[in-house]
Amino acid sequence: TALAGKHVAMFFEKPSLRTRITFEAGVCGLGGTVSFVDQRQERLDARESLADIAHNLERWVSAIVLRTFAHETVESMAEHACVPVINALSEIEHPCQALADYFTLYEKFGNLKKVTLAYVGDGNNVLHSLLLTAALFGSNIRIGTPKGYGPNSQILADAREIAKITGATIELITDPHKAVRGVDAIYTDAWTSMGHERETEERARVFPPYQVNDELMAEAAPDALFMHCLPAHRNEEVTDSVID
Ligand code: NVA
Repeated sequence: TALAGKHVAMFFEKPSLRTRITFEAGVCGLGGTVSFVDQRQERLDARESLADIAHNLERWVSAIVLRTFAHETVESMAEHACVPVINALSEIEHPCQALADYFTLYEKFGNLKKVTLAYVGDGNNVLHSLLLTAALFGSNIRIGTPKGYGPNSQILADAREIAKITGATIELITDPHKAVRGVDAIYTDAWTSMGHERETEERARVFPPYQVNDELMAEAAPDALFMHCLPAHRNEEVTDSVID
């Protein structure tokens, strides 16, 4: 009943299965209520300014959950609204996903400082949040991405600053085989994220060496976990044999 009497607004500019349902189930399970607004037809700020939206919403709801194209939409809403704003995926970050993933790693392995996760594939929003979360927990992350598809340099620099304090290790490795050697978990995501569909063909040429298949899994530690934020494109970034 932590959220009894509280109402939460959710605006999603992109499709969602897991994030939407888990937020709705979570808020309702804690005694709160939710308004979900399907914002796929037009961007949140198409009809009026974000500041105007923020100043209305803050009068009625206890928190705002956003899934957006531009990361600036989330930042701008947080700047203008005096209630908490939660990023439920933007072009740059997917923090709730990474928190849930590190909770899973904690449940499976315990001490996160002794865990090494290898992320192979596209250096996208999910990788950025895994990277920042690993850094905050003092965990170890290896990043296996093709040239030109690595993580955002500002996010990487921020993670490295945090790692200096927490003792996390961050390694950038182009070769997927070297990246996964002996790791506790291999993580991947779709080669083409939402909003980048025009690049699908080009990406399909670049990423096949980064497919997580039985051979790649065999190079990780025995009993290593496979992780994926989903939705998966089966037999592209991961084979059926691995994901099943
Ligand atoms: N990187 C993916 C994550 C989907 C949950 C995307 O942004 O489309």
